[in-house]
Amino acid sequence: MPLFTLEHVERTFLLGETRIRALRGVDLEVMSGEFLAIWGPSGSGKSTLMNVLGLIDTADAGRVLFDGEDVALLSDDELSDRRIQKIGFIFQSFNLIPVLSARENIMLPLQCRRFTEAEIGERADEWLRKVGLEKLRDFRPDQLSGGQRQRVAIARALAGHPKLVIADEPTANLDSVTGHEVIGLMERLNEETGVTCIFTTHDPRLLDRVPRQLRLCDGVISNERYDAARATS
Ligand SMILES: Nc1ncnc2c1ncn2[C@@H]1O[C@H](COP(=O)(O)OP(=O)(O)OP(=O)(O)O)[C@@H](O)[C@H]1O
Ligand SMILES: [Mg+2]
Repeated sequence: MPLFTLEHVERTFLLGETRIRALRGVDLEVMSGEFLAIWGPSGSGKSTLMNVLGLIDTADAGRVLFDGEDVALLSDDELSDRRIQKIGFIFQSFNLIPVLSARENIMLPLQCRRFTEAEIGERADEWLRKVGLEKLRDFRPDQLSGGQRQRVAIARALAGHPKLVIADEPTANLDSVTGHEVIGLMERLNEETGVTCIFTTHDPRLLDRVPRQLRLCDGVISNERYDAARATS
């Protein structure tokens, strides 16, 4: 079953007198369990599309079906409920709470859900193990490297067992080796848990092993894969 169906989705911003057509008729179907990358230059509409997919922003034309529901028919409360129950977010700048430890950061979103305190602690420990940070569980974000911080953020996004993980430029603040490790970790967790993962990047070198790639250019999407040979010739 498709997790997402987008039909002719448009999103236009008004900046004074200027109309910016950030998405110009995007058609897209994402099946449950897919691992896919959206790539394209700065300003091509990647974040705008991710915000629509993450139910943070709504399309102003076209149709978005998420997990069998037409999102245009959902109230703000229902949208926020679907976000909390079904979607995990990973951000470029990690967005961890500075005064909380790695473990507490992972526990925080679980507290909005129907888990007991004991379950929350167990899940946080399980996810610290899965991302290889069990020894650093009591460290605060400022005591961790960029790659370690992003591992905490990945664990935080996945610990609630969402159906979908949305990662907008998760590697933009990392060096290329650490960036590859972070994508590799997301790929492994996608295989192990079946969670659908969508990430964006403007760095096509990260795409070698990604099975499905979509290119965004000026708000239009295509199935173009990055061709390293062509890019360097
Ligand atoms: N809230 C907003 N108000 C006005 N214009 C916006 C807004 N958000 C995005 N835009 C415009 O929409 C277009 C697409 O922006 P978007 O942030 O989606 O691009 P992007 O592909 O994520 O770029 P980057 O790689 O730099 O993150 C840009 O022209 C941008 O200026
Ligand atoms: Mg962006």
